[in-house]
Formats: sequence, structure tokens, C-alpha cells
Amino acid sequence: MSYDRFKEHLSEMHRKAISILKLLNEEEQYRLKNFLNKCYPSQEHYWAVKKLFCHAMYIPMFLIIGRRHFKKLVYIDTHAGPGLAKIGRGDNEIILGSPLISIFWPSVIAQRVRRFSGIIDGFDELYLIEKDQSIEKLLRNIINAAVGHNVDKIIPCLGDCNTKLPKIISELSAESNGNRIDRILVYLFADPYGKLESQLKYNVLKSLTEELTVDVMMTVMSVNIARGLSKLKGLDRERSMEIIFGENVIETLNLKDGARTISPNHVIQAYKRMMGSIGYKKVKFIPVEFAKGTIYHVMLATKGKGKWIDNYVDYIRNKSPQDYDMLKALFLQAIGKQSSIEQY
Ligand SMILES: C[S@@+](CC[C@H](N)C(=O)[O-])C[C@H]1O[C@@H](n2cnc3c(N)ncnc32)[C@H](O)[C@@H]1O
Repeated sequence: MSYDRFKEHLSEMHRKAISILKLLNEEEQYRLKNFLNKCYPSQEHYWAVKKLFCHAMYIPMFLIIGRRHFKKLVYIDTHAGPGLAKIGRGDNEIILGSPLISIFWPSVIAQRVRRFSGIIDGFDELYLIEKDQSIEKLLRNIINAAVGHNVDKIIPCLGDCNTKLPKIISELSAESNGNRIDRILVYLFADPYGKLESQLKYNVLKSLTEELTVDVMMTVMSVNIARGLSKLKGLDRERSMEIIFGENVIETLNLKDGARTISPNHVIQAYKRMMGSIGYKKVKFIPVEFAKGTIYHVMLATKGKGKWIDNYVDYIRNKSPQDYDMLKALFLQAIGKQSSIEQY
């Protein structure tokens, strides 16, 4: 299995992240490093590389196919973060985070791969939602430094995604004028931490997908969500599950017996069922490992037809490692910290 292309892409995401970091003034750099160290104090989490790779690889496909059928291509990041992501312990072990990937990756790929040259301008509009005020401020600073102040199409939004999204949806659907078939195609990237209160709510996702045509990629923190739900009992558990997965989830998963704990597999089944109930027939889960177990799944749901989605999932499976140690070793090689896997 060759992971050369994987390493090349990580290397590019790292180089770009370092060059953006250098554009920040001293105070901004200090605040960013402080934030990243606070979020990820001592532990490494190279597993984050996988979701970012899945995200980056999806964008060119989305843009090239979407451009053939839709007039406007919109990106919505529900949990944007500061723009850069710290992956390992070292200060410089950073790569582009999801919002900056959505901004820069189209032009990177367009310049490298001739058949993607048409996507150079990227998305037509990008909404970047972040709940934490200081993180959202950092994101704005980074965008201003890396892209410039006058980029109207990039719209950072301070607030909870579950309250911000309905407004974005109604503005976009007013624009599409009820003619959703060929007007607007949305790529929604949802990357919450595992806390229950961070999750995108079923009702919000449902109304978004009723109003607009939307491809969804979501980090499903299956282990953490299962743990959080298992701690709740009776009606509290039922209510939380309904908020995240919609009504009747308890019955459908056969969880009426209140004493049972919720497993990561229940969480995956709940998402599968929920996406099916709002019209997604193609729902794929890519498991991501840490310390010999699955830590989260990347969920991809599209109403798009054709074989390309299966091809995309095969590409991720074949061209990026599932094993955590291998992922870590390749990342360290990609950023020039380690010359061989044996050395690791
Ligand atoms: C896992 S991080 C996102 C990382 C980012 N996607 C990246 O690739 O770098 C989750 C972010 O979501 C924010 N957040 C948590 N709950 C949120 C919510 N309900 N709405 C919007 N943002 C939220 C957190 O402050 C945090 O910055």
C-alpha cells in the first residue's frame, strides 16, 4: 500500500499552516499557541489527521461534480475552531484546520492536478461557525492575516451552531427561491468534541436538509457520545438521545430497558437511522483508530448518485492508514520530524 500521496498532502497542510502562523503578530501567535496547548495539553492526537484528510479529499470531488449541476456551492463549518489544528506535543506539529482547508485546498489541488484546474476559485460562500468568542476572534485574525480583510465570501459566525444554522438556512433558501434542485449545493462539515451539548441537533440538521441540498461530513465521536449517554438515566437519557438523533430512537435501537449502557455501535446505528429518516440513502462510516480501538468515525452522507462516493471511500481506505501508529509515523515523516517508520 503506498501512502506517498497521503504524506505529500499532510506535508502541504503543515507547510501552509506554518507559513500562516508566521503571518500572525507576536500577540496573536502567543494567543494561538496558548489556546492550542490548553485544548490539547500533553496528549498527542494524531488521529485528528484522518478527519482532516477525509475533509480535504472530499472538497475537490464536491466542487467538480457540484459545479456541473448547481449554480452556487456553499461550505458550512459548524464547529470551526481557530483555523489551525495542533496534532502532536511539539509547538510546530500543526496543520490546517477544517476552515482553512476549505479556503485553501481547492487552489492547492487545482494547481497540482490538471483535471481539477476548474476548482481553483473554490466555494462561492463559506460560513464558519464557532461558539467560543476568543477562538472565533483567533479565527478572524488568522483569516485576515492569511487571506486579507476584504474577502466577503468568507463569513465567520460567532455562536452556537444550533442557533446560527437556522438563520443561515433561511437566508440561503430564500436565495434559492424554492428551486433547490439546481440552485445551491451545501457541504456541511460538523466536527464537535464528544460532549453531548456540542452535538448538532437532529431538528436543525433535518430542517437544513429539507430546505437545501446538503452533503454532510461529520466527526462522530462515538466512544465519547456513548459514554456521555450511558451516564444519563431514564428520561434524561431519552431526551438527550432524541435531541441528537430524533424521535423514537430508543424504540428503534431496542433500548427500552433503561439499565443498558449505550455502546459506540448504538451511536453509529442511531446516526445511520437518523440520516436514513431524513432522506440519505448513502451513509458511510470511516473508523479512526487510537490505541488499538476505534476512537471516532467520520460519517459521510450524500443524496448524490453515482459510484463516485464509493470510490471516494475506497480511496480513503486504501490511501490513508487505519492503524494509529502508522498514521502518527507518517505524519511525523511528513513534517520532517522522523526519517523512517523503523526509527519510530
Ligand atoms: C474539535 S474542535 C473543531 C476543530 C476544527 N474543525 C478543526 O479542524 O480545526 C470543536 C470546536 O467547536 C467549538 N464548539 C463546541 N460546541 C459548539 C457549538 N455548539 N457550536 C459551535 N461551535 C462549537 C469549540 O469551541 C471548538 O473550537
